[in-house]
This record gives sequence, structure tokens and C-alpha cells, in this order.
Amino acid sequence: MAGRARRDRARGLAEDAVRRRSLLDGGIAAVALGGAGLLSGSLTATFGRDRKAVTAAPGRTAEPAPTAGLGTTGAKPSVAASAVPVGGSAQVKDPSSGDAVYIVQPTAGQYCAFSAICTHSGCTVDAPRDGKLTCPCHGSRFDAATGAVVTGPATKPLPKYAVTRSGDRLELGDRQA
Ligand code: FES
Repeated sequence: MAGRARRDRARGLAEDAVRRRSLLDGGIAAVALGGAGLLSGSLTATFGRDRKAVTAAPGRTAEPAPTAGLGTTGAKPSVAASAVPVGGSAQVKDPSSGDAVYIVQPTAGQYCAFSAICTHSGCTVDAPRDGKLTCPCHGSRFDAATGAVVTGPATKPLPKYAVTRSGDRLELGDRQA
């Protein structure tokens, strides 16, 4: 703009005309800068608001994980696989009934789970030993690999649950029978 005023003076324009033109040019520049600032502020506010909405939404993350829906265990009980040795067990609770459940590994790499509630009269059976779950009340014994009755008086097997392995975790699934 200073260069333009210099050229105008060189062309012999009156000083008043040069000053008016400079003021006019400055005003246009100010309006243009103000408009750009408003636009920039508006865009920042818009995108800033959207980002806040994503991060604040319950159950969502700003950057969705590629395994969304798989990596979360939700309310399902789980244990570390290392907590269930071959022939051993870990106890969890059925989230719907609150009953004790044993997650067992009767043979290497084979995981399953059984209700710990004896089908005879509802006592809690002991953790598996030597491949059997024994009820302390009347002596019923159940197979730790299938839940089947080995010795009565119980006549029905222990209810079974699905178990899924996810990395180092064993997750209790639905009750099957
Ligand atoms: Fe288990 Fe009777 S309650 S054997």
C-alpha cells in the first residue's frame, strides 16, 4: 500500500486523493483480515465442539479401536489363564444368579466351567481334585471335564458354562444347560 501511494504521488495525484486512497485500501485490508479471523474462529469452534461431543459420549472413544466390541469384557467375569492350571480351577460368579462357578482346565488347553452348586440339594461343591468335584454335604462326585455325576446321590450333572479365551484371559460365557 505504501508503494501504491508512492506511485500515486509520482503520477502527480493530489495529496488528499493519495491519503483517501490509502485509507480506503487500509479499510479493505482490515475488513478482509477481520473476516478471515471470524471464519477461522467459527471453524475452530465448530470442530472443537464436535471433538468434545465424541470424547464425552458414554461408551465411545475419540479414536475407535479396531477391535471395538471384542476387546471389552463388559460385565462378564474373567480370570487370567495362568490362574487355571491343568487339573486346577479358578472360581468366579455367574453375573445373573450370583452362584459360584469353577473355570477348570481338565487337560492342557481345554477350558470349561461348571456351576459349583450341587444338583442334589444345593450345597457348594469343592474345587476339583484328581479330576472330580466333590460335594461336602452328601458326597456326590462330578467329573471335572464334563460335569457328569460320578457318584450320587445327585442324579443330574453340574450345569456347564461356555468359556472363551482372549489372549491371556478366560472369559465366562453363557450357561449352557
Ligand atoms: Fe450335594 Fe447332597 S447337596 S450331595
